[in-house]
Amino acid sequence: MKTYSNMGKESRSTLNFKQVMATRLAVIMVTAFCITATGTTWAQHVPNKPLKVNGVDDLGVAESYYKTIDPNDEKTNLEDWREANGFNDPINTIVEAKGFYSNGDVGFWRLIQMVIDERPGFEGNVAFHTVNYNTEIDSLTDQNAVSIINMEYSPGPMSVASNNTRSGRDAIGTRDEDREDDHDDRHKRKREGDRDEDRNGDSTTNSGADGRITQFYVFDTGPTGIRLPSTSYDFRNEQLFLPAACFACHGGDDNAKSPMPPEGYAGGTGETGAIFLFYDLRIMAFADDNPPPRGTADTPPDNRMTLADVEAAFKKFNEGVLLTNPTKETIALINGIYGGEGLPNDTQNLDYIPVDWMTEAALYRGVVLPSCENCHTAAETEVLRLDWWMNEADEVREAVFEDKEMPNSVTGYTRFLESTNPDQPAMLLEALNRFRNR
Ligand code: HEC
Ligand code: HEC
Repeated sequence: MKTYSNMGKESRSTLNFKQVMATRLAVIMVTAFCITATGTTWAQHVPNKPLKVNGVDDLGVAESYYKTIDPNDEKTNLEDWREANGFNDPINTIVEAKGFYSNGDVGFWRLIQMVIDERPGFEGNVAFHTVNYNTEIDSLTDQNAVSIINMEYSPGPMSVASNNTRSGRDAIGTRDEDREDDHDDRHKRKREGDRDEDRNGDSTTNSGADGRITQFYVFDTGPTGIRLPSTSYDFRNEQLFLPAACFACHGGDDNAKSPMPPEGYAGGTGETGAIFLFYDLRIMAFADDNPPPRGTADTPPDNRMTLADVEAAFKKFNEGVLLTNPTKETIALINGIYGGEGLPNDTQNLDYIPVDWMTEAALYRGVVLPSCENCHTAAETEVLRLDWWMNEADEVREAVFEDKEMPNSVTGYTRFLESTNPDQPAMLLEALNRFRNR
C-alpha cells in the first residue's frame, strides 16, 4: 500500500526514516480499513470529509426537502414515485441497463431505468430509477438491493415562479454561514464568491426555463418501498441526509440545519443546483475485465453483461441527461464521446480525449478521467480545464495531497491510492511539479 502523506511541498529527504515510518503507520491506521464482502478482502481508504465537501444536512432538513418537492405526499413510497413519473403508463418506454459496475466514485453494481415522459401534460420530464447492489448476480436478478436512489427532472413546487429560484436558494440562509470554518484559503475563497460565480455563470443552468428542477428521492429496498431521508455509499454505512447526501457527486451545495423555515427548503423552491451525471463507459467495469471488479464470483459466465450489452441503453441515458439541466462540461463530454453534436455515433469512443487535454493525454487518461471527471462536471468545473491546472497546480496539490479531500468518495480515493498502472498519485505529482515549474 502506498501513502503519500509527506509528498506535499517539503521533500521527503528532509524527514528521517523514523519520522517517515511513524507517519506512514499513522496514516495507514487512520485511513485504511480492511473489510470482507462476498468472500474477498480489500482495503479501503477514506478521504477527509468523505462525500461532505459540499455540505451536510440533517433529518429535519431532509423532511423539509421532501415536503417542499412533494407537498401533496404523492411520492412517499417507490411504487407511487414510479406511478407519478409515468413508469406504469404504456405510452412510455422504460430504458434499462443492468449488470454494470460503476467504477468511478460509486462502487456498486447497478440497475438503472429511465423514463422520458410522453404523457400529455408531463412531456419532457425525465426520471431515473437507480438500484445499487454488491454483486453482479444481484443486479441481474434484482435481489439483495443495497439502496434505491432515484432522481427526476420535473417542475418544482414554484415552477410558475421559476425565475425566483436564485433568490429562493439564497433564502435558505444557512448554507454558507454554517460551512465548517475549519481550514484553508481554498474554502474561504469559495465563500467569498467564486462558488456563486460558478453557479450563476453559464456553466450550470439550475432550473430549466420551464421551472423543472433536479429532485432526489431515496426509497427502502424492502417490500414497502417507503421513502427514506438518508442513505449510505460505502462500508462505513454512515447515513447522509438528503439532499446534501447527493451533492459531492451530483453538485449542489448547502449546509443546512433544522429547524427549517416554514416556507420549506431553499425558500420553498426545492432548488439545489444539482445536476444529472453522464454515462462514460470508461468508468464502468464488467465481469470480463481483467481484473474483474468485486462481486463477480457468483455469476454464471453465460449470464454476464459486457460493455456491448449496455451500450444502447447508455446512449439513451445520455440523451436523457441532455434533456435535463446539464452543465456545459457535461454537454461537451457527451458530444465528445459520441462523435459530436447530435451524437452521430451509436457507440462511445473509448479513446476520446477533450481537445483541451491533448497535450497531456496520459494525465487525462491516467488520472483526470478515472478519478476526477464525473464529479467535476457538476462541481468546480474549472477542475476539468488544463489551463486551470497549469495556473493553479497548488490548488490541486492542496485538495489531493494536503487536505486529502479529493477524490472525495471512499471508492474513488481508494482506487486512486491503490492504483498501479499507472500509479495515479505519482503521475499526478509529477505533472503538478512540471506545471509549477513552468
Ligand atoms: C459517490 C458519488 C455519487 C453520489 C454520492 C451520488 N451519486 Fe448518483 N450517480 C453517480 C454517478 C457516477 C452516476 C452516473 C451513472 C453511474 O455511474 O452509474 C450517478 C447517477 C445517478 C442516477 C441516474 C441519473 C443520472 O444522474 O445519470 C440517479 C437517479 C442517482 N445517481 C441518484 C442519486 C441520489 C438520489 C443520490 C443521493 C442520495 C446520489 N445519486 C448520490 C454518483 C453518485
Ligand atoms: C466524489 C466527487 C469528487 C471527486 C471524485 C473529485 N472531486 Fe474535487 N471536488 C468535489 C467537490 C464537490 C468540490 C467542491 C467542494 C470544495 O470546494 O471543497 C471539489 C473541489 C475540488 C477542488 C477545489 C477547486 C477550487 O476551485 O478551489 C480541487 C482542486 C479538486 N476538487 C480537485 C480534484 C481532483 C484533482 C480530483 C481527481 C484526482 C477530484 N477533485 C476528484 C468533488 C469531487
